[in-house]
Amino acid sequence: MSGLYVFDAYGTLFDVHSAVARHAEAVGPEAARLSELWRSKQLEYTWVRSLAGRYADFQELTEESLDYAASRCGGINALTRAKLLAAYAELSPFPEVRGVLKGLRYRGAKTAILSNGTPAMLDKAMASAGLEGLFDAILSVDALKIYKTAPAAYELVGQHFGGAPSEVTFLSSNRWDIAGATAFGFGCIWVNRSGLPEEYGDLAPKRVVKSLDALLA
Ligand code: LAC
Repeated sequence: MSGLYVFDAYGTLFDVHSAVARHAEAVGPEAARLSELWRSKQLEYTWVRSLAGRYADFQELTEESLDYAASRCGGINALTRAKLLAAYAELSPFPEVRGVLKGLRYRGAKTAILSNGTPAMLDKAMASAGLEGLFDAILSVDALKIYKTAPAAYELVGQHFGGAPSEVTFLSSNRWDIAGATAFGFGCIWVNRSGLPEEYGDLAPKRVVKSLDALLA
């Protein structure tokens, strides 16, 4: 196997709900709702700020969206807020991630991350998940100050590796990211871990898998 495999980070390699899960008791009965709202607001902020030309980095948006979600879900105290942000900096990777990356690289593939996360966030997440050394490049949209799904964000891959978009296999569990990457010209695999319904019908992935394990099958 050769080729270039480019992974989204949050939700694809790292479980974004693992932060609240670790502190569910301190967060209280609305923990699951808070986690969902935190993620959806964080993403909304990336799109609004990109369209408005008002970039703020992903760490800032992660903090702002947590504060919004918390105030919608009964509030959290300062200690719990600090614990949730510390947990977000060290999210759990999905269980198959390390083995799949090693397997792809063993078979001669190149691997990279293309993420909205800042370089500092990605470095810390990779170190805590034990994924260091398993990527040829860690690409962050922070270099451009615009978020996915702006085509310029996906262009970072070609700028780093060369080659045509059609030579890239892009993997994300975020269906909106698959839509953007498909529009850009990547060959996309949607990692639909939780069996979500299909959307963006005219921007369909080439393949849908339940976990990254399918890459080695
Ligand atoms: C990422 C987020 C959006 O780019 O999932 O890693």
